[in-house]
Amino acid sequence: MGLFTGKKPSKAGKTGNTAALPRHIAIIMDGNGRWAKKRGLPRTAGHAVGVETFRTIATYCKNIGIDYLTIYAFSTENWKRPKEEVEAIMGLLEKYLYEAIEKMEKDGIRLRVMGDTAPLSEKLKKLIAETEMISDRLNGFQVNLCLNYGGRAEIVRAAQKYAEDYKSGKVSRLTEEAFSEYMYSAGIPDPDLIIRPSGELRFSNFLLWQSAYSEYYFTDVLWPDFSEKELDKAIESYKKRSRRFGAIESK
Ligand code: IPE
Ligand code: IPE
Ligand code: MG
Repeated sequence: MGLFTGKKPSKAGKTGNTAALPRHIAIIMDGNGRWAKKRGLPRTAGHAVGVETFRTIATYCKNIGIDYLTIYAFSTENWKRPKEEVEAIMGLLEKYLYEAIEKMEKDGIRLRVMGDTAPLSEKLKKLIAETEMISDRLNGFQVNLCLNYGGRAEIVRAAQKYAEDYKSGKVSRLTEEAFSEYMYSAGIPDPDLIIRPSGELRFSNFLLWQSAYSEYYFTDVLWPDFSEKELDKAIESYKKRSRRFGAIESK
């Protein structure tokens, strides 16, 4: 129900100028390491400031009326980093979730984790389960935290799950809509706007299925320096665009 598989814009009518706010914003949080290096600090200091930026931006998104914020926090490829850096990132995520549990009800922020949680620590898994349990009781603004997430892994996982259901006779012909239900993002509209800071012009395995018709915004600003003003700029750019979804401009 309520799924968009790259065909329907979320609030803006069928085609034409979006004008409305994006309903779903996704962000590739990038540039923490370079931010720290520029200041002669260890990369982990950049990650710590990056978490604060994330908090600020999540609160801002909620306040301006965005429905979903999807954040790329750790990719399936990020395990290639030195053990100390991976451990530091996991530690920051634990701290973030621990604090979120205390405050999410008051802040009105629902949280859902997207990605393969199996290789994560028991502590992290427990914290995730707890945040998701609290989220089930809440309504409104939702943050999707992509953790050990990879777009290709997500598609392969969905294909496997579909094949199992097909074999057991639970489902029949595969459609785009049906396949979307096997993604981590089941039930969530596709992102309208995807932001990548730090000057890199690539997707790095983010939301490959869901981004079919997303609008992209790239900026050289490094994630720890990203601000509410930067988000406003991205939204202004988005609002000026014409989303046609393959059709022609409506009069
Ligand atoms: C993004 O910042 C955070 C994660 C990938 C966890 P980076 O750590 O990739 O920062 P840069 O790209 O090296 O500057
Ligand atoms: C993408 O950033 C992953 C996250 C932000 C979590 P990376 O820094 O890992 O991407 P590449 O290596 O520059 O493509
Ligand atoms: Mg990076």
